[in-house]
Formats: sequence, C-alpha cells, structure tokens
Amino acid sequence: MKSRLNLLFLILGQLHVTRALNNGIGLKPHLGWSSWNVAQCEAASEKYALDAAAKFISLGLRDLGYEYINIDDCWSTKSRDSSGKLVPDPSKWPNGIKAVVDKIHGMGLKFGLYGCAGQWTCAGYPASEGREVSDVAQLVSWGVDFWKYDNCYTPCNQNPRPQTCTSPAGNTKTWYAPMRDAILGVQNMRKIHFNLCNWGRDEVWTWAAQYGHSWRMSVDNWGDWASVERIGSAAAAISQYSGPGGFNDLDMLYLGSPKLNTNQERLHFGLWAIAKSPLVLGLNLATISNATLDIIRNKGIISINQDALGKAATTFRPPGAPAPVSGKIYPYWVGPLTDGVVIGLCAGTAGGRYSVEFKDVPGLGGAGPYAWKEMYTGQAGRGSRVAFDIALHDMRVIKVTNV
Ligand code: GAL
Repeated sequence: MKSRLNLLFLILGQLHVTRALNNGIGLKPHLGWSSWNVAQCEAASEKYALDAAAKFISLGLRDLGYEYINIDDCWSTKSRDSSGKLVPDPSKWPNGIKAVVDKIHGMGLKFGLYGCAGQWTCAGYPASEGREVSDVAQLVSWGVDFWKYDNCYTPCNQNPRPQTCTSPAGNTKTWYAPMRDAILGVQNMRKIHFNLCNWGRDEVWTWAAQYGHSWRMSVDNWGDWASVERIGSAAAAISQYSGPGGFNDLDMLYLGSPKLNTNQERLHFGLWAIAKSPLVLGLNLATISNATLDIIRNKGIISINQDALGKAATTFRPPGAPAPVSGKIYPYWVGPLTDGVVIGLCAGTAGGRYSVEFKDVPGLGGAGPYAWKEMYTGQAGRGSRVAFDIALHDMRVIKVTNV
C-alpha cells in the first residue's frame, strides 16, 4: 500500500511540473543581458543591442555561456501601422529588427524582445492584448528567440479601456494564456523562450511552469541593497518550483549599480546563481569595473547556476543557528547539484565567522570527509566542515563533492 502511495505521489509530482512549452529550451536558467537597467527606453535600440553583443565576445562572456541580448520596453513606435502590425521605431532601428537579429545570430548569440499582456506596455507603447497571434507571427518573421511579457494596462475594471489602474483585477493567468498559446502555435517554426513578468502576482510560481520557461517572482530589482534583500530572501520559500524548463526569475542583475558595493554585488550574483535564477546582466558593459567583471565571469558560480539538475538552493537551519527573519537574507543555503551540493553562506545582516558542519547539511549523507571549493576566493580543502570570515553583505559559495 505504502509503495502504491509513493508511486501516486511520484506521478502527482511529475504532473505538477508538466511544462506546457516543453520544447527543449529553457532547460537551464538563461544567461544574458537586458537593456532596461542600462538606460531604460533609450537603450531599446540597435546600437545598444549590437554594442552589448560585441562586448559579449570581447569580454569573453559568450564563451562563459551568456547568450541572450534582450531589448526591453520602448523599441516600437507609439502606434501600430495600418495593418495592425508593431513598427520598430526607425530612429532606434534604422535597419529594422531582422537585420540586427541576423547579425546577433551570426555572432552565435540570441535575441530577445519585450511585450506586454495589456493594451499598452508599462512605458506606454502598443501591447498585445487581443493581438497575440499576429504579434507572435511578427516575432517569428524577425527570428526573435525570447519574449518577455509584462503586466501593465491589463484588465482592472470594466471600462474604460485602456486600463490605468496600477493593480490588475482578476487572476493574471487569464491574460498570459493567449500569448502562451500563440507561442505554442509557432513551435514548429521557432522556439521562443517565454518569460512571464507579472511581478510575482497570484503566486505565479505555482502555475507558471504550464505557461512559460521563466517567471518574475517579484516586483522590480531597483538596484539597491533593499531590493537584493527583498527578492533574495523571498526566493528561499519557492525554490521547489524551479526546474529544467521553468525557473523562478529573480529579475535582472543590478551589478554595477552605484547603490551596491562589491560585497553586495558578490552576494547578489551568488545568491541569484544558486537560486537558479536567470542571470541577466542589467548593466552597461562599456563602463563595467574590473571588480564587477570578476564577479560576473566567475566560472565556478556560473557552472553551479547551469548545473543540469536545475534544482534551486534554499535555506537550512544548522543546530544553534538563529531562526530566519522575514525579509532578511538568511546565512545558510544549500542546493543539490549533479555531482554534490552547493552551500551558500551569506553575511546578510552581520559580518563575522560563519561555519557549517557537513553532518548538518541536508543532501550530504553524513560528516564526510568531503572535498570542497569556495568559488570567490578559490580556497579549497577536504574535511568535515567549512568556516569563513565574511564581511557584512558578502557571500561565500562552496561546492562540496565526494572525495
Ligand atoms: C516593468 C518590468 C521591468 C521593465 C519595465 C519596462 O513592469 O517589471 O522589468 O520591463 O516594466 O517598462
């Protein structure tokens, strides 16, 4: 009886992660760059896209796996053409979109665009409500690989349209479904990564795997420590919803923000990586500092993020450790990897000495000894515990494997 029950749970568990857009992409969190944090509307142009693509190559980012060049809001004109089509703003796209996509594909990279489920995008450009099929046909004709889909000007009351309330009424699922179906309809022509951006409404992580490949689980990262705390701490409770084909998206990385110091940048990048968030650089690659470059080019951390198992880390409480505090980043994180586990130690609220006995780590089958390597300092060793002095807001990312 017990084993039958186990089988039932196993089947239910499998059903739970049925991926509607199960088209062989998004099996790992996507890596890339997005225009939005760089210069908002101004950056939605051919120049920014091609400059970022060139930097992906010259800075070695493409070789590390960074792949998507994503253009966010404001790339079109303010109105559709007479046949109802979206029009790339000619002042931003003097050669149209397809020519740029072709170049980016020629560089071995992928290209993403932004749209919205309501009548207008958040910045007031035409959006896709009721036009999902024809807008997706346009994406296919340009060769677009990625579609971020926002939540502005969606239904919040009966009339008038367009809607102007900030808080949509009803379940946001309702307006993500038609776009999901439109993307499903073109699967044979183009595999498009569908990224839902409903700002974490309606517990999106509980249903979004049936809709897209990744989903924003929070309102925006504003580039300050408070955002890193708010988003990073919220990721712990929803780790189980991420997996190959569908990942919690903790929002674009805001490394390079003047509001974050290098310690905070390390924690931001490390925590997003072990939480299996997409790693989408929201920064200007032309002016990036060496300290930030070192962080985003950390091979060990990227490979932990890209581990084929696709399981997100969550918090654990070793004996004697304080209870988690809501909204604060807990010190102790762990996640399974194909060949071991990753332990994250976060000095989210206080600098000091942080140590962990391997016998207390979920997923490790005892005290060891194990082999370990810390990815920011390069320190490595073997034994039954790790201990680090960590400065306020800094992080250590430790991969633990069998000896
Ligand atoms: C927000 C979204 C941001 C950015 C912006 C563009 O709703 O969360 O990531 O896309 O819209 O207007």
